Order: sequence, then C-alpha cells, then structure tokens
Amino acid sequence: MQGMSQPARTDLFVTTSLEPSSELEARARGFARELGAPYVGRGDLGLPRLFRAHPGAHRALLVQTNRLLLAMPGGTELFYHPNMAFLRLGNLLRGGRDLLVDAAGLRPGDRVLDATLGYAAEAILCAYAVGTEGVVHGVEAVPELGVVVREGLQSVVTDHRVLNETMRRVQVVHLGHHLEYLRACAAGSYDVVCFDPFFEEILPDSETFAPLRAFGDHAPLLPDALAEARRVARRRVVVKAMRWSPLLADLGITERFDSKSGKVTYGVLGGTGDKG
Ligand SMILES: C[S@@+](CC[C@H](N)C(=O)[O-])C[C@H]1O[C@@H](n2cnc3c(N)ncnc32)[C@H](O)[C@@H]1O
Repeated sequence: MQGMSQPARTDLFVTTSLEPSSELEARARGFARELGAPYVGRGDLGLPRLFRAHPGAHRALLVQTNRLLLAMPGGTELFYHPNMAFLRLGNLLRGGRDLLVDAAGLRPGDRVLDATLGYAAEAILCAYAVGTEGVVHGVEAVPELGVVVREGLQSVVTDHRVLNETMRRVQVVHLGHHLEYLRACAAGSYDVVCFDPFFEEILPDSETFAPLRAFGDHAPLLPDALAEARRVARRRVVVKAMRWSPLLADLGITERFDSKSGKVTYGVLGGTGDKG
C-alpha cells in the first residue's frame, strides 16, 4: 500500500515459538520493528514451512519464552551463552592471568570498546577487569546476532554468580559495522578498543564457536577501522589473531602477546586519542 513503510529486510523474518501468548507476539513484533524485518505469525506452523513461504529468507529470529534463537533453513541454530567466559573468568577468579587483560593493560575504571562483540565472552572478561567503575561497550555487525547477545547478556542465568553479574555490565551500543560507530566517536572516548575478527582457519577445539561462525560477519578487519580505533583509544588498540597469521604484520602491528598454547596472539598498538 502506498505511503505505508514496509520492512526493509527480506533475508530475515521474526517469529515466535509455537502457539505464542499475546505478550510473546508483542515482543516479537518489537524485535521485527527494531531489525526492519517482517514479523511472521507462527500459529502452529513448523519453521521449515515458514522458510518455504519466505524463499528470500536464510535466517529467522525466534522469540521463545525464555530466550531468543536464531535459525537457518538447514537447522543451524544459535542461542546466547557466554562461551569461554565461564572458564576464563574462573581462571581470573582463582588468581590466574588472562592474555587479553594483560595485552589490553586493563585497569579498574577503564572504558573499553569491544568492536567485534560475538558472544561477548571477551567483553565479559574486560568488564570483570575494569570493575563496576569501568564501562564495556560492544558493537556487533550482524544486527540479529547483536540483539540475541544483548538480550542474553541481560537475562541468561548461569550457576556462576560473578559471571551473571559481570554479563549484565556489558552494553551493546551499536548494531552495525564498527567503522560507522568508531567514526562517530570523539577522539579518546575509550581507553582501549579491541578487535577479534574471525580467524581464516578453524581451530580444532573451537566447536562451541560453530553457530557464531555461521551467523557472524567474516569480512576482514579494515586498515581504516584500525586507524579510527587508534584515534578513539586513549591507550591501546588490541587485535586478536592466529599466531601464524600474517594479519598483524599486514596491519603493521609488531608488539604481540602470544598464548602459551601457541595458537592465539593479541597484537597491540598505542592509541592516539589523548593526543587529539
Ligand atoms: C570471532 S567473533 C568475536 C568473538 C568474541 N571475541 C567473543 O568473545 O565471543 C567476531 C564477531 O565480530 C563480528 N564482526 C565482524 N566484523 C565486524 C564489524 N565490522 N563490525 C562489528 N562486528 C563485526 C562478527 O559478526 C562476530 O560476531
């Protein structure tokens, strides 16, 4: 109909679990509006049937009573869980060190931007390191993924009290490319900016990462984004990479913090934010 605004996206639809309550439908409509995607009434229809009725869609956001679920026609699914944060936070709580916290040089009260949020496992570690006086913001390029993570960070309850409290302190501030967000930030508005683009190779012990790889954005880190991050960061920009990857050298990063396992490294560049 002329004059009526239509959802812009055809690659995604938003629906609910089977036979939803009116509250659940209203929530789903809200997410559909936010994502600019159509809301599709579920009734008692199976998901494959909904995908067949929307041939352009290759992903669906399902609003369920206790969680959000992303689904693909082939059956791949993603729901929020804090992934490696459970183990890495446990290690910090036992007095151990964490390579990201060391590479970023995090201190209580710092402001941190995680520019490639994913499951926010590393953002959670940063939130623990900067404490309740600090701030951790996250940016996720894939809006529906960012919504699942944002809602999960606020609602998922694990049996780890400190993890639950720390998750609640990570704020998703932008659903879109980090370059857009960084360009809009004033110089020096964060102490540290972190990037963790997908690795080119899949590490054998990273199976919990498979759904994130399926739904995430695999575009390489752009030199422009790194330059903007240096302007926005007062102290450091951290880039995670596979140890044998040419990525850090290609980006001109020479200072590195290598993991004991030998697989992962964090490259570090000085921020220029305090110099304007
Ligand atoms: C390897 S994962 C990050 C994992 C994260 N460090 C964690 O602890 O869960 C990379 C994430 O960054 C997102 N991403 C990729 N390019 C991006 C960009 N240009 N802007 C914002 N997010 C981006 C991907 O969609 C994916 O969710």
